Amino acid sequence: MISAGLLKEYLSRFEQLPLCKGPSPVQKLDNLKSKWGLGFDLYVKRDDLIGPAFGGNKSRQLEFLLGEAIKQGADCIVHGGALQSNYARQVSAACAMHDLDCYLVLSDHYNQKKNTGSHLVSQFLGANITYFEGKLGSAHEEQKKKLSESLEALGRRPYLITYPKSEILGSLGYLKATLELVEQLTEDEFPQRIVMPAVGATFIGVLLGLKLLGYKEVEVVGVAPLSNEYPIEATVLESMKEICALLKIDFGAVDVSDINLDFTYVGEGYSKTTKESLSALVDFARYEGVILDPVYTSKAAASLKNLPADGKRTLFWHTGGAPAIFAYSDEILKSIK
Ligand SMILES: Cc1ncc(COP(=O)(O)O)c(C=O)c1O
Repeated sequence: MISAGLLKEYLSRFEQLPLCKGPSPVQKLDNLKSKWGLGFDLYVKRDDLIGPAFGGNKSRQLEFLLGEAIKQGADCIVHGGALQSNYARQVSAACAMHDLDCYLVLSDHYNQKKNTGSHLVSQFLGANITYFEGKLGSAHEEQKKKLSESLEALGRRPYLITYPKSEILGSLGYLKATLELVEQLTEDEFPQRIVMPAVGATFIGVLLGLKLLGYKEVEVVGVAPLSNEYPIEATVLESMKEICALLKIDFGAVDVSDINLDFTYVGEGYSKTTKESLSALVDFARYEGVILDPVYTSKAAASLKNLPADGKRTLFWHTGGAPAIFAYSDEILKSIK
């Protein structure tokens, strides 16, 4: 265990590009608790409200990744995701703010609508976009690497954001966010359970942050939006080890027996909504005025309904992504008819 002050000191040794003005608010969701008949108090941490260009969790991660990029003398960033990627939108915005060229490789495999939602925003933020027909995963990462190498051959200085390597620095953004939560809430208000969408750095940062700071009893549940594209479980464990090495913290002292990833809400796969996710998306809006996204947060939110009525103060970590609703308008409208 280390103190909040020491963790803060460790993180301050890393270059950071200011993108987020925290703390993001924490709100109680009493209407939803009563409508859903939940047997515990429910709160939401609004990371959908931080960061540029509609924000979200990736802005916290980009503070560290782009800090490092600038330290290395990069003049452009290479990244990508699915066509409606929130990460792509947020990196495009960060590049626009800090005078970096942004190159994106976007996977067109998932039949997501073009020219609306996050994809629309990335385009007019000025990103240079190429499309990739395959799904997310190793072939897509390879394509990003090739683009980075071709930019290098032209005399550019690209910084490549890639999975799983970039989860390490990205997670520092969520170690910092965990410190923010600790400072924001009293012990009596602090969650006994945290539920969030999970692929990589967000879940890793929060889980490790709580362990390092001594909040061992807090249950952290990561709800996966995909199961085939990335080796999530192995990456969580490996990344936690590497982050500890980077911060020069003894990993042997970190208990990893409770990595709690839930794959039961994926449905037919990445980017495909489910009946439960659409219903959670509509209920968060109708009862609390909170807009979720159709790919990540609505699947994680759907899991809240099935948690035991155990009275555990539960915090749902909203990671953003709402602009994608415009790319899913048909499905959302159909679900409320
Ligand atoms: C809205 C939203 N939530 C959660 C995630 C998953 O974040 P991470 O990979 O840091 O776990 C993403 C990833 O793109 C996202 O866009």
